[in-house]
Amino acid sequence: MDEPLKVWFLAPEVAPFAKTGGLADVAGSLPSAIRRLGIDVRVGLPFYRTVKEANFSIKRVLQGLEVPLGDKTLPCDVLETRTSEGILVYFFDREDFFDRADLYGDQDGDYPDNLERFAYFSRAALVFAKESGFCFDVVHCHDWQTGLIPVYLKTICRSDPFFSQAASVFTIHNVGYQGLFPADSLSACGLPPSEFHPEGVEYWGKISLLKAGIAYANAITAVSPRYSREIQTSEFGMGMDGILGNRSVDLYGILNGVDYSAWDPATDKHISVHYSVGNMKGKGACKAALVREMGLDECILDRPLLAVISRLTVQKGYDLLLDVAEDVIGMDAGLVILAAGEKKYQQALDALAQEHHGRMAVRIGFDDPLAHRIMAGSDMLLVPSRYEPCGLTQIYALKYGTVPIVRATGGLDDTICQFDPKSGEGTGFKFTEYDATAFLHQIKAALNAYHDRRTWRKVVRNGMNADFSWEESAREYVSLYQQIAGKGASHG
Ligand code: ADP
Ligand code: GLC
Repeated sequence: MDEPLKVWFLAPEVAPFAKTGGLADVAGSLPSAIRRLGIDVRVGLPFYRTVKEANFSIKRVLQGLEVPLGDKTLPCDVLETRTSEGILVYFFDREDFFDRADLYGDQDGDYPDNLERFAYFSRAALVFAKESGFCFDVVHCHDWQTGLIPVYLKTICRSDPFFSQAASVFTIHNVGYQGLFPADSLSACGLPPSEFHPEGVEYWGKISLLKAGIAYANAITAVSPRYSREIQTSEFGMGMDGILGNRSVDLYGILNGVDYSAWDPATDKHISVHYSVGNMKGKGACKAALVREMGLDECILDRPLLAVISRLTVQKGYDLLLDVAEDVIGMDAGLVILAAGEKKYQQALDALAQEHHGRMAVRIGFDDPLAHRIMAGSDMLLVPSRYEPCGLTQIYALKYGTVPIVRATGGLDDTICQFDPKSGEGTGFKFTEYDATAFLHQIKAALNAYHDRRTWRKVVRNGMNADFSWEESAREYVSLYQQIAGKGASHG
């Protein structure tokens, strides 16, 4: 029998170990789906404080691995665990880089040594693969934090026979995060000055780790078909459209799937009463519990409850949300928001919630169990993003019978079908123009549908019956791995 294809899956965050957004959900669930297709996939991430302090059963398997980085050699410890689905997960430990309160930065902004931190992680993962004899066919990298891995394979690892077959896939989860650093830090990540050129790691006089991944990987993917097209335009490319256009034959849009073992109201361990499309009684109980927990007026039990769960950044459309919030409350609906991120949005949301106490509730912070309870207890989810590479919350919402109202961009457009009350088809409500009027128009359409029981049952049911599990997308990744395997560092 042929040896299974070996894939080294490296990401800066992986659920349930470390999470700031949807990338963690993807990195925490895609490997299992890939493994089910017969691939030997192993996962690697940094050993952050959040992992150290949680109660995972993780053992130290290697001490003092020597990681060359520029003119230094830095030791690294490696820890290991095996998930319930049999995936080996490795953690790269260096206290002064990763034993910090957060993953990428604090209230003062990004950590100033992020280049060294993620160059180190990238280098350590390659050194460890060789040290432990994991002769991978493909390394699958995610976002700018891993963008140097394809570069290392084609430069400093190029003459090492161990890596001669290794090909790389670089997945773009968000072209807005570009990993920009000053040009003079090139040597700190162990690269020769010869890589600093417009077809290499150079980006407007700086180093961009996102661009590095795009330029050097054998294949590039984006997390939805529509986003893979959008980022090749100047409107959505955020300056990367040129290089992405140059590589368009190697760029694939593969839609994210979701993990229904974590996000299904029939089994969700964070909600008090379970429900499913065949038995919806529990949804009312979840709503009642949420209304009480969030301190909303009891009357909201009979009114539509709208929710937002997202990072407080310009990407997620908070200017539109702030514009429409009072209208929504004026339409006799409740509003709950769970979000973490930029201060200016926090303050504006808190002020509104105070003014509309009982009708609107805001929780600032990152709280996964609460995200599940809101998903189950609300009637609609608002996702008015300026741009959205894929978006997972609207897909979770479908499963929870919480009807999504989204902007028709990126993966939001690929995953939600406009509901038509006449035909009874469709799973949610979509608006195209990025403005409050268009957004409100769809909110009103959704509220109208809500007030007609039969119509509402239809749209809820359509969403709950939709299937976004990983199987199909995992097959697309595996066929891409097979296509590039063996092409190695010397090609492409
Ligand atoms: P993005 O990755 O851009 O943040 P996604 O929709 O792909 O957007 O994924 C967001 C993920 O993060 C979802 O699992 C969502 O439930 C979770 N999430 C976002 N904000 C919070 C929060 N404040 N607390 C808990 N979970 C959150
Ligand atoms: C990014 C994107 C989001 C996507 C997630 C997982 O954080 O902003 O749209 O769903 O990655 O791919």
